[in-house]
Amino acid sequence: MPDVKMFPPPPPSSIRADREAVIAQDRQHVMQTYGRLPVVFVRGDGVWVWDSEGKPYLDFLAGIAVNGLGHCHPKVVAAICEQAGTLIHTSNLYLTLPQPRLAELLTRYSVCDRVFFANSGAEANECAIKLARKWAKLRHGPKRTEIIALEHAFHGRTLATITATGQPKYQKGFEPLVPGFVHIPINDTAALKEAVTAKTCALMFEPIQGESGIHLLTGDFLALARSLCDKHGLALIFDEVQTGMGRTGKLFAYEHYGIEPEIVTLAKSLGGGVPIGACLAKEEVATAFQPGDHASTFGGTPLACAAAYAALSTILEDNLVGNAARQGEYFQQALCGLKAEGAPIAEVRGKGLMIGIDLAVPKAREALAACMEKGLILNAIGDRTLRFLPPLIVQQEHIDQAVSILGAVLDQVA
Ligand SMILES: Cc1ncc(COP(=O)(O)O)c(C=O)c1O
Repeated sequence: MPDVKMFPPPPPSSIRADREAVIAQDRQHVMQTYGRLPVVFVRGDGVWVWDSEGKPYLDFLAGIAVNGLGHCHPKVVAAICEQAGTLIHTSNLYLTLPQPRLAELLTRYSVCDRVFFANSGAEANECAIKLARKWAKLRHGPKRTEIIALEHAFHGRTLATITATGQPKYQKGFEPLVPGFVHIPINDTAALKEAVTAKTCALMFEPIQGESGIHLLTGDFLALARSLCDKHGLALIFDEVQTGMGRTGKLFAYEHYGIEPEIVTLAKSLGGGVPIGACLAKEEVATAFQPGDHASTFGGTPLACAAAYAALSTILEDNLVGNAARQGEYFQQALCGLKAEGAPIAEVRGKGLMIGIDLAVPKAREALAACMEKGLILNAIGDRTLRFLPPLIVQQEHIDQAVSILGAVLDQVA
């Protein structure tokens, strides 16, 4: 394990900033698409991040699962600095060293054979949707275009991915949507069987739904999905943008189920904090793409791929996947302990370091605000659910500290 700091060092006074001025600048010049909390972060180190007033926070959201290695991991920082001084970008008209090297590592440790590099989770999913349709057209003719997705899914904010997402709150105002998506309830085997028709080309699922509040797909449901794909020649797409890169205690969440998808999408913690997305596919599916079929100016730049290579190598070398499994177990037990002691928790669920709790009272937003006040970063989903996505480097002492803050906060809001 790397040397993780249990207690934050004193804040560097040189990085303090005028919080009110930053907020005013944002309000005036940035498109107001985010309901941001009024906090300005200026520095991060491991599980800690500091705001403009010099206050430390224990980061149990990790940039919404992006900072898998914590903030500013030295190996990622070194790789970025070295690559930034060597070659940042050339375009995909040419080969560079970091992109195929990262693709080789990803294919060595996954069930897939080829990679397309994008810049985000939504773009990785766009690629997966295009690839599945192209493959189905080549295999079955022009009529197989429909993708079966799940209710309460989240696949991104482009037009095709908000359609795949299927939640009206993300779609309203942006119609017409992209045709060819149907949605079924999560873990409903009867609905899945019924949804597969002569028009179906792929099934697209998050193995654990993250954004909607940590909902796990069952083994039975995924076994059925696999067998339907085999029977009808469909592609099984796993959106592992949030679950991938060790977060659930396996490098990829599909490993928990003993099921192999044809296509896997990644982003978030793939780059150790640097934007990068990837669509991985098995050989037969991947080769449906021919030169000119898909492209991205920035996809897989030397800089992003060098950062991602350093991040993945570190995850593997330091066995951070094992740490995510162990600490996740410890964290879930500690949360169940809080519940047993009478905290207003209705349910604890998750895998590895992807954990959600449902509160017995509709006070998730109040709990979030009070945790932030006490220096703990987490995420509230709706009125009742809190989501935790701490970095894979987290240790027991950090979890004890987080659970102690949460316990005090839940007493206060109950
Ligand atoms: C499962 C899943 N897919 C896709 C996305 C979209 O990723 P991005 O915001 O990088 O486009 C997210 C983001 O939260 C996600 O959780």
